[in-house]
Amino acid sequence: MVIFKKQASPCRFQKLYHLPAAEKIKPVIGNMPLILVGGVRTLEEMEKALSDRKADFLSMSRPFIREPFLAKRMKQGKAKEAACISCNKCFAAVFNELPLRCYVDGLP
Ligand SMILES: Cc1cc2nc3c(=O)[nH]c(=O)nc-3n(C[C@H](O)[C@H](O)[C@H](O)COP(=O)(O)O)c2cc1C
Ligand code: SF4
Repeated sequence: MVIFKKQASPCRFQKLYHLPAAEKIKPVIGNMPLILVGGVRTLEEMEKALSDRKADFLSMSRPFIREPFLAKRMKQGKAKEAACISCNKCFAAVFNELPLRCYVDGLP
């Protein structure tokens, strides 16, 4: 039986959920680069965060579990947003010693 089933239920996803924290941190860290993570999903919001100088780098976790070549496809103009729906089933899987992959279609 898979534990963390609650975790695997649909979550209240918020885009760029660490952006408010980044906005406070960035002005006080001088030249130190800031890497923004958490809910980064669309090319549009990535370009805006960088052009608004809210972050120096962007990081994604779950989107690369679902689409390991997402960054390359975005660079080639073949994708504008991540297909990951942030269901957290991959996160639940690792607590159950299952291989790390996208389980969007269901956990065993
Ligand atoms: C399967 C999985 C394992 C993770 N393990 C760690 C971890 O060991 N330490 C950590 O700080 N964050 C961990 N995270 C959180 C990610 O680093 C990231 O901060 C989070 O998933 C939000 O980014 P995302 O919206 O791009 O997924 C993990 C996330 C996933 C999905
Ligand atoms: S299981 Fe797949 S769709 Fe769900 S959060 Fe993980 S990578 Fe994204």
